[in-house]
Amino acid sequence: MDFMGKVALITGSSSGIGEAIAIKLWSLGANVVITGRNDKRIQEVVNKCHKRDNQRALGVRTDLLVDKDIEELVAKTITEFGKIDILVNNAGILTTARFGDPKYLDSFDRTINTNVRSIQVVTQLVVPYLEITKGNIVNISSFHSEVPDWKAMTYCMAKSALDMFTKCLALQLAPKGIRVNSVNPAVIRTALFDTATGDNRLLKHFDNYCREWYPLGRMGEPADVAEAVAFLCSPTTASFITGLIMPVDGGALRMCRK
Ligand SMILES: NC(=O)c1ccc[n+]([C@@H]2O[C@H](COP(=O)([O-])OP(=O)(O)OC[C@H]3O[C@@H](n4cnc5c(N)ncnc54)[C@H](OP(=O)(O)O)[C@@H]3O)[C@@H](O)[C@H]2O)c1
Repeated sequence: MDFMGKVALITGSSSGIGEAIAIKLWSLGANVVITGRNDKRIQEVVNKCHKRDNQRALGVRTDLLVDKDIEELVAKTITEFGKIDILVNNAGILTTARFGDPKYLDSFDRTINTNVRSIQVVTQLVVPYLEITKGNIVNISSFHSEVPDWKAMTYCMAKSALDMFTKCLALQLAPKGIRVNSVNPAVIRTALFDTATGDNRLLKHFDNYCREWYPLGRMGEPADVAEAVAFLCSPTTASFITGLIMPVDGGALRMCRK
């Protein structure tokens, strides 16, 4: 896989899975756009993209809940690089308010706005540029688009909606030569759980759970997801693949659930 000269915009690349995707695409030669809401974390990831000739990493602070921020993100990308070849819609949040809780509707709005609506805004703005480059889109969904969890109901619903977006958009954009795919991880070791719950107990719980129950006997790592994304982005490996929902789950979808 060779991404030399390509431009990849990865949302939520200031941490976790998005960071690993950005570093992977960078290591394969792509120019990358690093985004998130925290300037310090963005800069740390930009710094990990060690300087090379003819390759640049651009950091742009963006709150995906603010449409104007998204417009600026795309505009700054075009000003810097003049084109976009790859869009990875990775940014997302986990929320755990239960149905019936007083805060449920707030949680619902925040989850849907971040994990579904913002992706519509970004993608609408980027597609005209992908049309020119015959580029492609990878959405980062979750195995929870298929596996219900009532303790994370809005998250599951958001990821189901995202999968249908991937499938419909793949059909709409195929005649324009733009591929649209999804990578759906099971539990991956990132800050997602600590951010959602305020401590590290959930991640610790999943670490033990995955060791015992996941067919491959471990929790996923961000690099596991990044490898799959690189595969789907590359015309060398995936030029005839669109509308795919690809699990990266250590076999979790196939296991008998406890
Ligand atoms: N970890 C897992 O087990 C797992 C499993 C399946 C799917 N996923 C999916 O993978 C994706 C990445 O999650 P992760 O696990 O890597 O979590 P993470 O480490 O918490 O990263 C989330 C990223 O999204 C950004 N983000 C969140 N809200 C944002 C907003 N309003 N505006 C701009 N950026 C925002 C965060 O940046 P700031 O907070 O700095 O703004 C951060 O860069 C998510 O879509 C998640 O649903 C994760």
